Amino acid sequence: MERTTAVIPAEDIQRQTKYCAEIKVLNQQRQVPPMAYVDTYGCQQNEADSELIRGMLADMGYEITDTSDGADVIVINTCAIREHAEQRVFGNVGALIHGKRKKPGQIICLCGCMAQEAHVAERLRQSYRHVDLLFGPQALWRFPELLRRVYLRRGRVFDVDASDGAIAEGLPVRRSGKLKAWVSIMYGCNNFCSYCIVPYVRGRERSREPEAILNEIETLVGQGYKDITLLGQNVNSYGMDLGSGMDFPTLLERTNAIPGDFLIRFMTSHPKDATDRLFDVMRNCERVAPCLHLPFQSGNSRVLRAMNRGYSREEYLDKIQALRERVPHIVLTSDVIVGFPGETTREFEDTLSLIQEVRFDALFTFIYSPREGTPAAKLDDPFTREEKQVNFDRLVEVQNQISLEKHQAYIGTVQRCLIDGAGDDPRSSLKARTAGNRLVHLNGDSALIGQFRDVRITHCSTFALFGELI
Ligand code: 5AD
Ligand code: SF4
Repeated sequence: MERTTAVIPAEDIQRQTKYCAEIKVLNQQRQVPPMAYVDTYGCQQNEADSELIRGMLADMGYEITDTSDGADVIVINTCAIREHAEQRVFGNVGALIHGKRKKPGQIICLCGCMAQEAHVAERLRQSYRHVDLLFGPQALWRFPELLRRVYLRRGRVFDVDASDGAIAEGLPVRRSGKLKAWVSIMYGCNNFCSYCIVPYVRGRERSREPEAILNEIETLVGQGYKDITLLGQNVNSYGMDLGSGMDFPTLLERTNAIPGDFLIRFMTSHPKDATDRLFDVMRNCERVAPCLHLPFQSGNSRVLRAMNRGYSREEYLDKIQALRERVPHIVLTSDVIVGFPGETTREFEDTLSLIQEVRFDALFTFIYSPREGTPAAKLDDPFTREEKQVNFDRLVEVQNQISLEKHQAYIGTVQRCLIDGAGDDPRSSLKARTAGNRLVHLNGDSALIGQFRDVRITHCSTFALFGELI
């Protein structure tokens, strides 16, 4: 069988490399090296995309700065998942007009998920005339070509490509960290959960070839990266389009076989595709971190059906049981939405009871936000924001108590942690992460950063552990 999703031909990527070189020559003729700033909203996939954008900008001869002030190119990589994220972007993009008045040659670009929404493109076209370039996630690999068009012609370029998207290999990358790295293994989503905008803005699921992924990871391990997160909207359906029988558990096994002292994490997993085979592989692979982010969204089967999630409350709980039988000390995290249209307080209670039954280590909690174009946005929603807020606050309170108790159980234990940075408090000069990705504050020499060390946990709070080096 052949793969069913498109791969960008190498010569098309090379053309982008050529555009980068062309802009670099122009940039080198300037007296002061031009500066570029990339601001990222939203999820880890966006962080990873921004690392590619910075890579391309560096190849075009830009120095990467960490402020928009005075930058020659500003790229805003946006998130559309909730209304609040969009409002922040509109506010911040609006404010950029003042900087542009002082620096008229400045090029302002907006990309990411919001760029792919028709109503956003229209609003930017009409009311944000200082934005020069707009392109969606599917056009990311063509950024050099699009920027060149703005650069040379000074016209506005709006490139909203409604295609299913493709796989682009060989783009330059400028990573933000030296210890932790993101590796995208697939793009897009086919699930169409009824509340979610992602499938409309990020195209269909498509997987990178395993060899490309494994080469990238091997290179990262060789460069000293210690904590590698495989990214995809739904990593559990990795490989389905490849036509080679490759699947996510097999990719994990092959990643695990790469020699070196490093941890493998992955996100996000969809419960309907998380199989016993995945859990077996997690148990058997020593480099695969003992943690799983498995969004449940609601604890009520009627709401789950209305969300088009493809599993019931009971099926979710069965998965958790199957996982815990295999990996008893698994660190579990999840996402949950409160106030889906028509969710009654009685139905919300099922969400509360699910978190009490599962006892997640941490939870990412959201109030439902209607997204234009999704089926849920058309549903009747008789409940007010205030009513939803009451339930939301109850949920957070219950979860905070569980998180605290989970953390208390670490006190007195010894955890192998990756020391991954300086602390922000003089009493705890270092920060670290357990294998299960719990944050640990501790004291020690900054020369330890980058090492795996045994740490005895001495006390805790709801959101962090505190420990001392052994
Ligand atoms: N409203 C609120 N939360 C949402 N999420 C996705 N779409 C919405 C929405 N419209 C949440 C889900 C998802 C996480 C990334 O964001 O919980 O897992
Ligand atoms: Fe959105 Fe559902 Fe796809 Fe996740 S699996 S990105 S929640 S549609």
